Amino acid sequence: MKVDNFRLKLGGKEYVPIIVGGMGVNISTTELALAAEKLGGIGHISDAEAGYVCDSIFNTAFVSTKRKRYLDNIGNPDKSAVQFDLGEVAEAQKKYIEHTVSKKSGNGMIFLNCMEKLTMNNSIETFQTRLNAAMDAGIDGITLAAGLNLRSLDLIKDNPRFRDVKIGIIISSTRALSIFLKRALRIERLPDYIIVEGPLAGGHLGFGPDDWHTYDLKTIFLEVLELLRKENLDIPVIPAGGIFTGTDAAEYLSTGAAAVQVATRFAITKEAGLPYAVKQEYINAKEEEIVVNMASTTGYPMRMLLSSPTLRYAIRPNCEGLGYLLENGGKCTYIDAYYAAMAEKKPGGQLTVKEKTCLCTGMANYDCWTCGHTTYRLKETTNLLPNGKWQLPKAEEVFLDYQFSTDQAIMLPSPESC
Ligand SMILES: Cc1cc2nc3c(=O)[nH]c(=O)nc-3n(C[C@H](O)[C@H](O)[C@H](O)COP(=O)(O)O)c2cc1C
Repeated sequence: MKVDNFRLKLGGKEYVPIIVGGMGVNISTTELALAAEKLGGIGHISDAEAGYVCDSIFNTAFVSTKRKRYLDNIGNPDKSAVQFDLGEVAEAQKKYIEHTVSKKSGNGMIFLNCMEKLTMNNSIETFQTRLNAAMDAGIDGITLAAGLNLRSLDLIKDNPRFRDVKIGIIISSTRALSIFLKRALRIERLPDYIIVEGPLAGGHLGFGPDDWHTYDLKTIFLEVLELLRKENLDIPVIPAGGIFTGTDAAEYLSTGAAAVQVATRFAITKEAGLPYAVKQEYINAKEEEIVVNMASTTGYPMRMLLSSPTLRYAIRPNCEGLGYLLENGGKCTYIDAYYAAMAEKKPGGQLTVKEKTCLCTGMANYDCWTCGHTTYRLKETTNLLPNGKWQLPKAEEVFLDYQFSTDQAIMLPSPESC
């Protein structure tokens, strides 16, 4: 039994049922998404901190322009005045997405991972702008993630591509799904696919730091299938989180999954955005070094390596330039933690910020090493080189391993590609 025996059917077309999940900020790069698309699967890019990502790819100046605009506010704990210019948000989004979709060369698709928790001090208008700009730029699909907003579909219902672009949601419980479906049925626009993300995934989680291990993907996945059957709804269901081998994936496909979404194994590929040294950290990680904590300012638990530099950050909040996680009204729990630490700091003492981290800066600098639980198994997927470093596989090699491997085997990258 292998993945290649199955196909994902979406909008009358067939795809290899492997979806590379979105990994912000720019871990799932254009190149990574295109590798999946070229092989007939689906690759996500993420629009997390799109202005910052554009600056690093195209040499634009979205971040410095915004910082200059609010220069006088740097050092002020009140960030309520710091707003994104919606024209610039749309421009960055279009630039990044057009750049990616214009390079498509296969029969697959490019989707956008769009996290609703990027509240940008104006959650509704910035989100609406991001979604509409993505559709205008020709994205094939949008996966609504982290913080699922019931009004999402209403925000884009006037876009001419509303019924043509594929729209999916990520949920971690039947409860969240039922609530979303009620609203979707009311406006007669059901999601085109449902990603069921279990407790072993990377990034933000729909499970608590203390109870995630009491849940399992298989159970939630079967509950979702049952709910859809009862409601007489035929929507492709795509499990995600901890699907490590082609055999794991094929097992889900044979129990009713339309496709699988995977990410951890692709995070260390040559095409992924993490720096070389960080990819080595991921591969070297031990299971006990992978933790779920509440350091993210989104209020959601997040999985990361304990050695993430961002966990030791004591930097001044960088909201004038970034500010992607500012809640409406300009609040962020890192700002509170930072200024509380400043108030407690003894003269000449070291500044230590407790519990929260500046996630905008940490993710932008690749200092927040978010990862899936199975990261400790990445050693099984590649070769140790004579210089003591791990070989980085190509995305194509990982994709083909998922597609064709059987019996829990993992195809190692070919040594020639070192
Ligand atoms: C490094 C990394 C970063 C991630 N970032 C995001 C993200 O920005 N948004 C999101 O919705 N999911 C994110 N995820 C979750 C993945 O898209 C995916 O659903 C999940 O990790 C799949 O499980 P696996 O990593 O065990 O294969 C991330 C996962 C990893 C490994």
